[in-house]
Formats: sequence, C-alpha cells, structure tokens
Amino acid sequence: MKSVALIGTGLMGKPMGINILGKGFPLTVYNRTVSKTTELAGAGARVAGSPLEAARSADVIITMVSNIEAVDSLLKGKEGILAALGMGKIFIDMSTITPEASKSFAALVKATGAEMLDAPVSGSTNVAEKGELTIMVGGDPRVLDEVREVLQAVGKFIFHVGDNGSAVALKLVLNHFVGGMTALLAEGLMLADKLGIDYSVFSNVLNSSVVKSPMYDIKSPKMITGDYAPQFPLRLLVKDLNYISRTAAAAGARMPVHEIVRNLFSAAGENGYGEKDFSAIYEFLGKE
Ligand SMILES: NC(=O)c1ccc[n+]([C@@H]2O[C@H](COP(=O)([O-])OP(=O)(O)OC[C@H]3O[C@@H](n4cnc5c(N)ncnc54)[C@H](OP(=O)(O)O)[C@@H]3O)[C@@H](O)[C@H]2O)c1
Repeated sequence: MKSVALIGTGLMGKPMGINILGKGFPLTVYNRTVSKTTELAGAGARVAGSPLEAARSADVIITMVSNIEAVDSLLKGKEGILAALGMGKIFIDMSTITPEASKSFAALVKATGAEMLDAPVSGSTNVAEKGELTIMVGGDPRVLDEVREVLQAVGKFIFHVGDNGSAVALKLVLNHFVGGMTALLAEGLMLADKLGIDYSVFSNVLNSSVVKSPMYDIKSPKMITGDYAPQFPLRLLVKDLNYISRTAAAAGARMPVHEIVRNLFSAAGENGYGEKDFSAIYEFLGKE
C-alpha cells in the first residue's frame, strides 16, 4: 500500500484526508496553518512540520491548495516539496490552477526523476466528505494506474483527460459553467420573486424543465435561506474566473459572456463577499 502525504488541509483537503485514512493509507499531512490539521491528527494522520518533511515521508504527495502561488511556494520554497522528489515519487496537484502553470510545475518535477499528474476535482465539500468527487487527470496514464487506488479513496469518477495540464484546462472549462450558471440562477430567482412567482412552484418547474441542474438543486436553497456558509468560497471562484480569462486569451477563445460573469463576481469579492459561498452572489445582486 502506498504511503501518502497531503499538503493543504482546508475546506477540501480535510475531508479528502479523512477518506484517505479511512481506506487505510498511511497519511502524513502538512498545512501552513497548523490548527487545520488537528482533526486529521485525531483520525490517525501524522503531522509534518514542513512540506519537505511531508514529501520525504511518502510515495505519493498530493497538494490541494488555493492557487498557483501556493503550489509554487510549497514546491520551490524553503523546505519545499521539490527537494524530496526523485525516482519512484509521484506528485499530484489537485488544486485548480492554469494549464500553463501546471505544465511548468510538471517540467520541474520530472527533472528530478519523479512523476506528476494534475488531478483537479469537481464537487464541493459535501461531495468531498462522501468521497465522491469527480477527478480529472492529466499526465501519463501509467502513472494514473499506479495511484488509482489513492484517488479512488476521494473520488467516485476518474477521467484521464490527456497530457500534463489538460485536466486543469478542462476544470477551468467546467468552472466557466459554474460561474455563469450560478449568476443566471441568481438573476432568475430574483426575477421570479419580483414577478410574484412562489419559490416552491419556481423550484418544482425548474426541476421538471430542460434547465434542471444538480447545481441549482444545491445552490437555490442557499440563496433562498441566505445560508452562505462556504462550500466553495466566492474568492476561489473569482480566482478561477481570472484563470479562465487568462487561459482563454492565450488560446484565442472569445468569451464576452464570461467577462460579464467575472466582473460580477469580482465586484462581489471587492464588496466583502469573498469568504462567503459563491451562491451569495444572489444577496449581492439584491444590494446593487
Ligand atoms: N471548495 C470547493 O468547493 C472546491 C471544489 C473544487 C475545487 N476546489 C479547489 O481546491 C483547492 C482548495 O480549495 P479549498 O476550498 O480547500 O480552499 P481553502 O479552504 O481556502 O484552503 C486553501 C488551502 O491552501 C493553503 N494555502 C493557500 N495559500 C498558501 C500558500 N501561499 N502557501 C501554503 N499554503 C497555502 C491554505 O493554507 P492555510 O490554511 O494556511 O491558509 C489551505 O490549506 C482550490 O484550488 C480550489 O479552487 C475547491
């Protein structure tokens, strides 16, 4: 059985770690803010004092952190992961970053003799808790086969997408839908309300129509009740929307609707909504 290091035990990393332990993998965790490792330590994880120490202890090293800067500093910083990598080690970055950054990290990792996969996920904290994430994988399919059991501890569906960077590219495409659909849901709910349409009728008809979506099932009750406890904090969606703009521009894809959505969520982030769930865009719209 492979030993695993999990670096980044935030909203997503913590339940993923619990599930990795639950499947019996020896697990070492590291988090910049140590207090976020307490629950995992209680469940049997060893807590490392640095990313380097965590990476030295394991065959498979997973990062699940906010953004490109976080992955960059964990890999290359003082006591970074890179110094522990070499033949036989597999580094899996499960964060949502850009394909360009992911490919550059893969080049660094491979120069040590180690392997790298990008393996971003679809599904929020509730799905992570159930171990039912959808995982997209970029990199050598033989390396994926070596770590499939580890990924199966956190995910229900695993798709090999292509070479390094291809999975984060697909993840950004998915989050283009997440941002756009949520903005449309918020506007639709507000319009229905202003037109005097009862929410339960709205909800029943939406769920029986062609625009039905599991995401709407999860997010419309949050909008109606005003429960914006973060599953996916709005600040992280803004980060992804910025990555989409950058990636689309480099690829030559014209996305005018995306730019409207990005500006809307960015404005919400600048007005104190960053730490709330991104469904709080409904409340922000109501305040404008
Ligand atoms: N939440 C979701 O629904 C969801 C769904 C799919 C994908 N994702 C993606 O999954 C990743 C993690 O998301 P999350 O929701 O778990 O976020 P989160 O709760 O904000 O956790 C972020 C993690 O990144 C660490 N981090 C941030 N900057 C760092 C730095 N400079 N150096 C070292 N560590 C750093 C944080 O450490 P500290 O605790 O010290 O701040 C924390 O462990 C993101 O890429 C996100 O886009 C999230």
